[in-house]
Amino acid sequence: MSDSRRLPSLSRRALLTGAAGAATLASLPRFATPALAQAAPLKVGLMLPYTGTYAKLGQFIDDGFRLRVEQLGGKLGGREVTYVQVDDESKPETATDNMNRLVGRDKVDVVIGTVHSGVAMAMVKVARDSGTMLIIPNAGANDATGPACAPNIFRTSFSNWQTTFPMGKVMADAGIKNVATITWKYTAGAEMVGAFAENFTKNGGKIVEDLTLPFPQVEFQALITRIAQLKPDAVFSFFAGGGAVKFVKDYAAAGLNKSIPLYGAGFLTDGTIEAQGEAAIGIKTTLHYADNLDNPANVAFLKAFKAKTQKDGDIYAVQGFDAASLLEIGLGAVKGDAAARDAMIKAMAAAKIDSPRGPLSFNKAHNPIQNIYLREVRNGRNELVSIAQSAVDDPARGCRMT
Ligand code: PHB
Repeated sequence: MSDSRRLPSLSRRALLTGAAGAATLASLPRFATPALAQAAPLKVGLMLPYTGTYAKLGQFIDDGFRLRVEQLGGKLGGREVTYVQVDDESKPETATDNMNRLVGRDKVDVVIGTVHSGVAMAMVKVARDSGTMLIIPNAGANDATGPACAPNIFRTSFSNWQTTFPMGKVMADAGIKNVATITWKYTAGAEMVGAFAENFTKNGGKIVEDLTLPFPQVEFQALITRIAQLKPDAVFSFFAGGGAVKFVKDYAAAGLNKSIPLYGAGFLTDGTIEAQGEAAIGIKTTLHYADNLDNPANVAFLKAFKAKTQKDGDIYAVQGFDAASLLEIGLGAVKGDAAARDAMIKAMAAAKIDSPRGPLSFNKAHNPIQNIYLREVRNGRNELVSIAQSAVDDPARGCRMT
């Protein structure tokens, strides 16, 4: 058996043994790896929710990723791409098994996933233990680029802190004093509300009550009644996907959209706006994207996405698209040789991407540095109002790579 044919199993073992494995690879004869790079297709694991409240989000990430690969001729780093798809159902309890299967049985070269913070943290653990390259195209769990940060883990989305911290100042500056918050009781909700509250109270605001319900429940009525009783100046919320559609509609059906303005993380109205219809009009949110960002990359992206899917692109599609762009930068730098990890990671960490969202680069924890925009729902779109905070960099609390 030639070196190039023996290498895949060695490379897999190396991946599964993490740092020790990397050392093994480093000591391989140099001529062995380029042969592998040309021979085998690159195996990409897509671990995303394809069912449940986040199903549409997962599908748009998938579509965005594939669109970018198609633009690159079906290749990344010059290698043909094949996919292994797993529906994680946004269920943390099955996440470790799903990820272990992708790494151990399917032997993927890289995993792209996922949407839900709890599922992502289970994936991060497996990625850290096995050394598998992981790109998170949505989930914002602060810890993924905080205490659990690792060289082989990148995020093309956001940290939960990042998207909502700027909104604290925006709302305080608008003269809003008393706010009730409402979200699902899990990592993403807690961290997004926490970051908003951190900045809002720092700027003189008061949180009058934090309302929660378990993920992914959508029985909002009792909580909406409670908001009506509290009569805060405004409400701040995080919901996404199908749950966000229902929440915004229920809020409007109760008539509260006329008396108590609804604010939120941009996920409340991104990818959901069409289904929310009139109920969403006037909702203000912060996010690293707006539909009408007038930069050439966004204009081209929206056109290409529509041509491929007949749908309007959103932040999830952008994050999937950028995950493929980032991987192309990494694999391009090593001519498709995914085993040349250090050089690949170095190129990815230094990447400067002209993203549809605007300029995208990465901090030392591998979390994006990006503008956070204030948007308002007008004309059936999340329209840009202003840059709420430019080049926002997550503090990466607890990450030892910083
Ligand atoms: C998350 O769980 O981190 C999450 C899920 C959906 C979003 C944003 C964040 O839209």
